[in-house]
Amino acid sequence: MAVTTSRSERPAAPAAATAPRYLTGFNNEFATEALPGALPVGRNSPQRCPYGLYAEQLSGTAFTALRGANRRTWMYRIRPGAIHEPFRRGDNGRMTNDFGAAVATPNQLRWGPLPIPSQPTDFVDGWVTMAGHGAPDAMAGCAIHLYAANRSMTDRFFVDADGELLIVPQLGRLRAVTELGVLEVEPQEILVLPRGLRFRVEVPDGRARGYMCENFGAYLRLPDLGPIGSNGLANPRDFQYPVAHYEERAGRFELVNKFLGNLWVAEIGHSPCDVVAWHGNFAPYKYDLRRFNVIGSISYDHPDPSIFLVLQSQSDTPAVDMIDFVIFPPRILAMQDTFRPPWFHRNVASEFMGLVHGAYDAKAEGFVPGGASLHNCMTAHGPDAATFEQATRADTSKPHYIEDTMAFMFETRLPLRPTRYALEAAELQRDYYTCWQGLAKHFDPRKP
Ligand SMILES: [Fe+2]
Repeated sequence: MAVTTSRSERPAAPAAATAPRYLTGFNNEFATEALPGALPVGRNSPQRCPYGLYAEQLSGTAFTALRGANRRTWMYRIRPGAIHEPFRRGDNGRMTNDFGAAVATPNQLRWGPLPIPSQPTDFVDGWVTMAGHGAPDAMAGCAIHLYAANRSMTDRFFVDADGELLIVPQLGRLRAVTELGVLEVEPQEILVLPRGLRFRVEVPDGRARGYMCENFGAYLRLPDLGPIGSNGLANPRDFQYPVAHYEERAGRFELVNKFLGNLWVAEIGHSPCDVVAWHGNFAPYKYDLRRFNVIGSISYDHPDPSIFLVLQSQSDTPAVDMIDFVIFPPRILAMQDTFRPPWFHRNVASEFMGLVHGAYDAKAEGFVPGGASLHNCMTAHGPDAATFEQATRADTSKPHYIEDTMAFMFETRLPLRPTRYALEAAELQRDYYTCWQGLAKHFDPRKP
């Protein structure tokens, strides 16, 4: 498909012929082929690959990484990944990994939803960085972005050399056409794209908005379960990986490469999503958050929110994660004589929250779907005044079902530095602090 038009006149992406098909099981050793016999048998790099394909390995971890942590995939493709013009610097837009540009504030921060753009904006154009820490060249830390898009990527492709992308759609579906196959996600599902994987994103509903955590460090994994046992939280079989799917398209395309915090652009004369067969465990995956097996207290109090952990990026310190992806899904609160909403707290960890759907049980108003909040290291927060008053009068002899909700948190070990955009945005709710100012003093030394 030759593409010579301006960006606003670009042709539509090829329509999806069928719904994507998936393989299942977190971090499994998958083998999939779009043509029969395309996968070599008994070796990775035969002298001549079936169908005249090129073999190429994508290594996600050090060659010598322990077997349980080792991630790599062998691809059998129409052209090797090296065929493209040189990269030149592109426009970073509102994406940044410079987390020292703005002075970090200890204030509680909350934002309204990012508006859907009025100009043609694809998934990459629509990135806005809100906060982060660490750096891609340290291979440690993360960046937290929002995206808002209204058009599909058709003639350009993206690759993030800096990290793994955890995408949390809030509005509209995303259809990711990747080197290793096609994945489609809707709000209340998540999509994880490995570092270094080439892809483009289509917006089937004409508009899309959501959250992203760009993980510079250790890849997301399922947490160990300890006394919970061998089942529970996010179950491995519910993670879905794409079957092999290839595009054989020629034209004038762009390959956008995020490398050490900057965007670079190269011309490429074909779709890089031309992998006919692959095997390995370094691959994109999706997960439906509604399948999360919620575990909580059935007597009194509620556990720390680590009980809601979906995926973790471990740090070099045992049992202390760099990133925790935590959700607050529908669940039953049955704890008796207990203040049931989240308690007031100050944590050494930093909490960037988003709301995909419904309402969050610690806030009566102001935290809306598509919005976000940041409570940084040791920043005091908790339920607002209205929630406190309601919860202290509630009848806790009966269970309460929290329904129609899906909030989440990117919780990080290191403090998050908000970007200049985040601190100056029109969406910043500058009166957020007032939600706690109405908390009355109830103390009476004469009434124990
Ligand atoms: Fe919190």
